Amino acid sequence: MSIEGPEDIEALKRIGAIVAEARDTMGRQVRAGITTAELDDIGREVLLKHGARSAPQLAYGFPGWTCISVNDALAHGVPSKDIVLRDGDLVNIDVSAELGGYWADTGATFAVGTVSARTEALLQATRQALQDALEQARAGRPLREIGRVVEARAKKHGFKVIENIGGHGVGRSIHEEPSVSNTYERTDKTILREGMVIAIEPFLTLKARFVVEDADGWTLRTPDKTLGAQFEHSIIVTRGDPIVLTASA
Ligand code: CO
Ligand code: CO
Repeated sequence: MSIEGPEDIEALKRIGAIVAEARDTMGRQVRAGITTAELDDIGREVLLKHGARSAPQLAYGFPGWTCISVNDALAHGVPSKDIVLRDGDLVNIDVSAELGGYWADTGATFAVGTVSARTEALLQATRQALQDALEQARAGRPLREIGRVVEARAKKHGFKVIENIGGHGVGRSIHEEPSVSNTYERTDKTILREGMVIAIEPFLTLKARFVVEDADGWTLRTPDKTLGAQFEHSIIVTRGDPIVLTASA
């Protein structure tokens, strides 16, 4: 969506803060022994407390409140009482929700206990890729610069970028135009405009360049079982620094 007045900004900040609170509250409970269903319950409580509704549930009939994806699962993981986090796992928590007709989307990847140095480097590089992308998100600049800097960040650290999932417009629904590629799309002539609302979400991996859907019809995994990480913020584009709707409180 595009911002039409101050009430749009206020409403987006409200839902952005709610999904950020759910993400961070869940993230603080990440530990060996907890199930992804228990983490989802924590997210549900935060959303319900604020009267917000789960976006994947509402838009796609997703069987959970939040998406929780472990190790080679990178996105759309279905919370389950049978998935128990273990020391050394990577877990991605992605929270998107709606309140009063406004939608926001955020995600973060957490290490469970102690992970390898290479996995820790993957987390750092992916976090930095999102930061690099935020610095390109300025009115008047080409949208494709986001993919360019994400790719450059991955390459610098010897990681790969997932090519078949990425960011998107957001605000009046969960997935809107434009799509925000994490790879450099030379022919994309889209220029970022003031007031555009987009979600930026780089996915970096140890090796894989795409994800495939599981037999469950939801979970997106790397075909070679390699680990990946994602961090996501919903933002409003301005002429200066973007307004990050889903920053931590
Ligand atoms: Co998203
Ligand atoms: Co998301």
